[in-house]
Amino acid sequence: MEERDPKSIRTQSFPMSGGDGTHSYARNSSVQRGGIFNTMERIRDAVVATLDTRKHFKKVVRIADFGCSIGPNTDSVKNILDAVKIKYQQENNMNNPEDLEFHVFFNDQPDNDFNTLFKTLPKNENCFAAGVPGSFYGRVFPRNSLHIRHTSYTLHWLSRVPGENIGEPNSEAHKEQFKKDMENFLEARSEELVPGGLMIVLGLCFSDGVPYAQTLKGFVKEIFLGCLIDIAESGVISEEKARSFEIPKYFPYFREMKEAIERNRSFSVEMIEEIEKPFEDGSISHDLIVSMYRGLYHGFMAEHFGQGLVDELFDRFSKKLTEFPLDDFVKTTNDRECVIVLKRNAL
Ligand SMILES: C[S@@+](CC[C@H](N)C(=O)[O-])C[C@H]1O[C@@H](n2cnc3c(N)ncnc32)[C@H](O)[C@@H]1O
Repeated sequence: MEERDPKSIRTQSFPMSGGDGTHSYARNSSVQRGGIFNTMERIRDAVVATLDTRKHFKKVVRIADFGCSIGPNTDSVKNILDAVKIKYQQENNMNNPEDLEFHVFFNDQPDNDFNTLFKTLPKNENCFAAGVPGSFYGRVFPRNSLHIRHTSYTLHWLSRVPGENIGEPNSEAHKEQFKKDMENFLEARSEELVPGGLMIVLGLCFSDGVPYAQTLKGFVKEIFLGCLIDIAESGVISEEKARSFEIPKYFPYFREMKEAIERNRSFSVEMIEEIEKPFEDGSISHDLIVSMYRGLYHGFMAEHFGQGLVDELFDRFSKKLTEFPLDDFVKTTNDRECVIVLKRNAL
């Protein structure tokens, strides 16, 4: 599960659940899809306002989606294509930009299920797709080669489990790792983008000052870990194995995300906004939470613990969740998202 990227940064890989079956990410990512749809208009407007189609490309636009995973969330790429076409039409006084072609690169870790991604990609005549495996914490494209790059719901995945803080989410070590990872991410992207090129980030964050335990993520994680420990106590796995299960994530506060972005001098900040995290139908349900966790973690939990245990874990998790009235979750839905648009400065 480890690989070396071109800058020799060791990264761990935790692919989403592959395929298109019941527990796949493709069929359990409605929360992420809801967030993408909610921000589409903002992102389209920002691209139209900031992209200069006369200066930066001729007839081929090169776009990359970093941490693309699989499934319907690639709609965000189509949104960017539409925005580029609008701007190109405006700046070149034409009705139909038929001569514009797109080269779209889908990046993720090599063990992402690229086969399912490419089988399910919608057909688009002027758009040519390619897969680019590798960790986005290092360079995955040649210098000066991309016009627009996009990423959604990826930057809270750290490059590795930091330090000795096993089982302590959002600890100081996680925070330090996030800072280092963001530096590497921005540095690599600044080299890959052409001057004037855009970088679009849709990410998870917390409102400044809200303790982790009072967020939906903190609340649900406690319940999830409780179920794992219950299973360990029944003797199916050792408590050590249960406690050593760690996912390298850090959910930054909005201020931390902003600081990380501003530390890198290669970009100008065109937009950085904190927005409420929406759920697809404006509400939340127990089933939605279970399905979201299953889409994210089923695959590599099955690898860590075995398929039988994962089924048992999610059964317990689902039952335990229903002990908490939905109001408890609604009270903690102060999780936020950030939408960021950066422009690569001239060299
Ligand atoms: C929650 S999914 C988001 C997928 C998609 N962008 C979306 O909005 O639904 C996070 C994705 O980021 C990928 N990822 C995490 N760390 C990565 C890294 N260092 N390099 C490339 N991809 C990474 C994971 O493999 C996973 O597919």
